Amino acid sequence: MNKITAAITCVNGYVPEDLLTNKDLEKMVDTTDEWILTRTGIRERHILKDPNLATSDMAVPAVNGLLQKRGITAEEIDLIIFATVTPDLIFPSSACILADKIGAKNAFGYDLAAACSGFLFALETGAKFVESGRYQKVVVVGGDKMSSIIDYTDRNTCIIFGDGLGCVLLEPNEEGLGVIDSILKVDGHGRHFLHQKAGGSLKPPTRATVDAREHYVYQDGKTVFKYAVSGMADVSAQIMERNSLTADDVAWLVPHQANLRIIDATAERMGLPREKVMINIDHFGNTTNGTLPLCLWEWEKQLKKGDNIILSAFGGGFTWGAIYLKWAYNS
Ligand code: UT7
Repeated sequence: MNKITAAITCVNGYVPEDLLTNKDLEKMVDTTDEWILTRTGIRERHILKDPNLATSDMAVPAVNGLLQKRGITAEEIDLIIFATVTPDLIFPSSACILADKIGAKNAFGYDLAAACSGFLFALETGAKFVESGRYQKVVVVGGDKMSSIIDYTDRNTCIIFGDGLGCVLLEPNEEGLGVIDSILKVDGHGRHFLHQKAGGSLKPPTRATVDAREHYVYQDGKTVFKYAVSGMADVSAQIMERNSLTADDVAWLVPHQANLRIIDATAERMGLPREKVMINIDHFGNTTNGTLPLCLWEWEKQLKKGDNIILSAFGGGFTWGAIYLKWAYNS
């Protein structure tokens, strides 16, 4: 019997309708459309405005659409891994909530928290379950309602983030397609530069933490930027090298969408022209766990069976990494 690999066999995504443009932000904080566009590459982001809707409410249409596209039912799902930093609740997990809402009665599932690298870590984890031979249908979800933890008086963070979510289905493959290799990293000293100060066991929520706005994202952008540029570029180049891939061999780079300048630096290090790089930061901003699957969703029709694809991300923790996969189908 051939070795079992885990292949992505379907992709879907969801972004809320409401837009937050750079012009809107000009009215909220001391910034300009021109500054945001030239420093980050972002024009607008989507926002889940309804205060009664949470991250799982973006996952429901995304995963239901995924199942419909693939022609399977929710009851066939074995496992849901939900990568998010904005779960509906601290517990139970958003995976449990999603399973209930879509009727995935035979699945187990859990959330995975690795900030902007969450989808990469979840993809690797899901792939291992499929490769084991024990699980056949693993749904990997990545997405965030970032607007629920963003301080819209802080221009260091509010200009970057948006809401959105994507998902993929992983299934066994015996043609050698799917996830081939990964390099995944954490460095906890980076926690000082990108975090939420309160809300966890270190500093449970109190009136004082709310008054001090400590439940919002804190970011030392300059430091994160420096580490992101070298981190993402290093692992992306390394994974090419150790799989003997030249720039010609790589069909697509799927980079985390935090800043266009970080994406460009990564592509340059890999020797890839812009045409081979998926970039949607201009219209989605940084959706944290949503960036990679939303790219795959938008580009799905252009992907061909056998394409060599490198996914790469960097985020809070610090967490970062790259995955090399061979695309498994033509749309
Ligand atoms: O996805 C998770 C990982 N996150 C990232 O990868 C984000 C990494 N960081 C970044 O993308 C960038 O650091 C930012 C976009 C957050 C900031 O861009 P920057 O080029 O690093 O700006 P900076 O913080 O060095 O600030 C440069 C100048 C400063 O003014 P002075 O001191 O030179 O007069 C800032 O006060 O720009 C000013 N500035 C702004 N001006 C207008 C900072 N933010 C803004 C703003 N609008 N929103």
